[in-house]
Amino acid sequence: MINVAILGYGTIGSGVYKIINDNNSHIARRAGEDIRVKYVLDLRDFPGDPVEEVLVHDVNVIIEDEEVDVVVEVMGGVEPAYTFVKRALEAGKSACSSNKELVAVHGAELLEIAAANKVNFFFEASVGGGIPIIRPLSECLTVDHIEEIEGIMNGTTNYILTKMEVEGADFDTVLKEAQDMGYAERNPEADIEGYDACRKIAILTSLAYEKQVDFEDIYTEGISKITTTDFDYMKKIGATIKLLGIARKDYHKTYSMVAPFVLYPDNPLYSVKDVFNAILVKGDMLGEVMFYGKGAGSLPTASAVVSDVVDIIKRRGETAKVLWSKEKRTIEGVDALTTPYFVRVKGKGLEADIKDSFGDVQFIEGDESLGETAFITKVLTGLEFEKAAEKFDIVSRIRVSD
Ligand code: HSE
Repeated sequence: MINVAILGYGTIGSGVYKIINDNNSHIARRAGEDIRVKYVLDLRDFPGDPVEEVLVHDVNVIIEDEEVDVVVEVMGGVEPAYTFVKRALEAGKSACSSNKELVAVHGAELLEIAAANKVNFFFEASVGGGIPIIRPLSECLTVDHIEEIEGIMNGTTNYILTKMEVEGADFDTVLKEAQDMGYAERNPEADIEGYDACRKIAILTSLAYEKQVDFEDIYTEGISKITTTDFDYMKKIGATIKLLGIARKDYHKTYSMVAPFVLYPDNPLYSVKDVFNAILVKGDMLGEVMFYGKGAGSLPTASAVVSDVVDIIKRRGETAKVLWSKEKRTIEGVDALTTPYFVRVKGKGLEADIKDSFGDVQFIEGDESLGETAFITKVLTGLEFEKAAEKFDIVSRIRVSD
């Protein structure tokens, strides 16, 4: 019998509890051993909920119980999650986590502690919710050099952008819907301003390029400045806007950023709508491969968490080799990343001036009453853009994925 302890009975924790109970015999067959939830840790009480039978308020009960084999951390936030997971690993228990804040900051260290204690630390659900992406990156795509990762990694913002595009919906109403469906972070700024996607691309960049990438080094821009007028322009050129996390590496340089991008239909991420996430990985031998599925929500995320539990059970006595060292990888400044830009500037009749500063551009006709000029530039570095934009009154600018 495998005894599991779940740390946190929130959106994901309750999903993990439900999946282990509802699909119990199926999971046991796949894992090769019976499995049960022995404890759920939460500060709160849940009167009338069957979880009461296994609810504890003190983590020491779990850490000190030798029968507990696997600790599932689904609390969110760096502390006390870090201390609890570290103590569990040091006590010889394997652990898994859906917590991108924890994994982005302490992933490499927790992997090291797990290896030293001959147990495992897995974190499949920390990126892409229910989508398998961590295990494919570390165990399947082992032959290729990863040239680029480009992904829609936040369900809440994709949901909001989709509603803005399709329904011209009001930002706050759609955000409330996403919160009600259990997609959004406790602090919605983490979704809207791209902080959540930033942690996720930090994890993927670290895994793809095998050294610690600090999320603080990743340029991050959210979607709070995107308006329905931007989407009106997109309709004219048959494009859309998505919040992307990007990681790239050439021989000497590594790039990583989070920002809204204009996408054309030839990009496979173009048609990823609502809460769905997708991660496009480009390998030097394989070419492109895309991972697609629900990136948020209780059961999809919990499904990925429980898949870690099954993997832990199957690997008892062996530590999986995950290449992610604590050595820091330097990320190039955002100015080094080259893209075309979609630009709106205040004023009409500026075509000659715009061409003079930006070179060849593609003008987009807009609503006359806006009193502005919109266009798409050629590929520019960040610095080239800033220099060309100096003498204009910029209403908005969004990078274009090429
Ligand atoms: N708030 C996150 C999202 C949850 O919307 O994608 C999953 O990490």
